[in-house]
Formats: sequence, structure tokens, C-alpha cells
Amino acid sequence: MYWRNPVDVIIAREIDQIAHTIADEIEQLLRDKPTAILGLATGSSPLAVYDELTRRYEAGRISFAKARAFMLDEYVGLPAEHPERYFNVILRDFVNKVDFAEGAVRGPDGLTDDPQAAAVEYDKAIAAAGGIDLQILGVGSNGHIAFNEPGSARDSRTRMLELTEQTRRDNSRFFDNDVAAVPTHCVSQGLGTILEARRIFLIALGTAKAAAIHELVEGEVSLDWPVTQLHEHAKVSVLLDDEAASKLSTTVA
Ligand code: GLP
Repeated sequence: MYWRNPVDVIIAREIDQIAHTIADEIEQLLRDKPTAILGLATGSSPLAVYDELTRRYEAGRISFAKARAFMLDEYVGLPAEHPERYFNVILRDFVNKVDFAEGAVRGPDGLTDDPQAAAVEYDKAIAAAGGIDLQILGVGSNGHIAFNEPGSARDSRTRMLELTEQTRRDNSRFFDNDVAAVPTHCVSQGLGTILEARRIFLIALGTAKAAAIHELVEGEVSLDWPVTQLHEHAKVSVLLDDEAASKLSTTVA
């Protein structure tokens, strides 16, 4: 019998509830530890959280001036200035709107000639910073977290990976619906890296995520659905809208 930690599941009435729940905990973390290390995800799911954090920063409630952040993943081979390069996305969506210090936010290097060597260095940099205090996660329709596709090893570290066809199709919406324009490779924190974060929030919105959420909440722990590995972590909260929760048979509050 595989031990499963329970995940805390919240089905939100509205997106604001998700944003407030996570922003409240980040606000408390920054108050207790201004030098906190945050784990940032790109994608549409965390946008309301970033907007809420930006509002609190503008209202003078929180500051990121002493904090640092590590991103989950990056495409390999997009030019430095490409708008969909995840580093540019996170600058645009969040980092440039608040007061992180220059160089305080890092992502895996997808520009170098040797992404695999850079990936190993990146893992070391997270450890040298003392590890991630709070990680924000989205989930792919096939259950991937960061870019850990089905079959990724439980103890995987930051590394270069090939993207599945499904993920390239899913992400083509950011590339004018042109699948051929989506990079074939990426660098992603491993499942082992992600599970070392001290606190994890996963956000899933929309029916495309319903199957992955069903597997996470009601399925077996399996590497076929990487998101189910979150049961190996003791402090995970999963925040859902009604659509992402639509394949759950039991009502979780
Ligand atoms: C991408 C990213 C993931 C992200 C997922 C969901 O493939 N690599 O880190 O969580 O998509 O994205 P979204 O939140 O836009 O649905």
C-alpha cells in the first residue's frame, strides 16, 4: 500500500477566493521572513494571484525587495526577446510590477548551448538559496507539473526534456495556434526538486484540467499522472474552480 498524504482541496466560488487564499499566505510569509524564496509558475492559472499580490504591493501591504524567486521551467531555443519565453512572461505578468531587486528572480537557462549543464547548476542554486519556501503550481491537461511529462521519475531533478505532442498542442495557443512554432524541448525543475518546496499551492481552472484533478484527488498515485506525486508532500493545497472539479465524485468543500 502506497502511503498518500491527503491534499487539502478547496473548490472556490470565484477566482478571487483562490487569489486571496494564496496571497494571504504569501503576505504572512513575507512578514515572517522578508528574504523568503518563492517558486513562480507561468501560465494562465496563477494570473489572478499575481494581480492580487501586485495590488497588495501597490497598497503598501507587502514588499518583495528582499525576497527572491525561482521559476519552474523554460523553453529551450526561443530567442532572448521572444514574448513567450517564460522569463519574459513572468517579468511581464508579475515581476516588473512589484519591487523585486535586480537579479532576484531566476529561471532555468534555455538560451545556453548546454541547457543540461545549466539545469544542474540551477538545481544547485535553489539548494544554495535554502530551498523554496512557497511554490505556486499549475497543471497540464495530461497531469504534468512544470514540464514533468507522464513517466518523469519521482526523484527527477532540473533537466532538459522533450515536450509531448499534447503539451505542444495545448501551448500552441500562445504561438498563434501554430504547433510547429512551439519549441520541442524545455528545461524543467524535476518532480524531486518541486517536492522539496516547503509549501505548495496548485491552481487548476477549467474543464481541460478536470481529468488531471480527478486523478490527483480520487485516483492512484502514479507516474502516468505526475501531479499525483503531490501526495508525497505533506503540505499541499489544491485550489479549483467548478469546471476543474467537475470530474470529482465526492464533494470536497
Ligand atoms: C505549461 C507550463 C506549466 C503550467 C501548465 C498549465 O505547460 N509548463 O508550468 O502549469 O502549462 O498552464 P495554464 O496555467 O496556462 O493552464
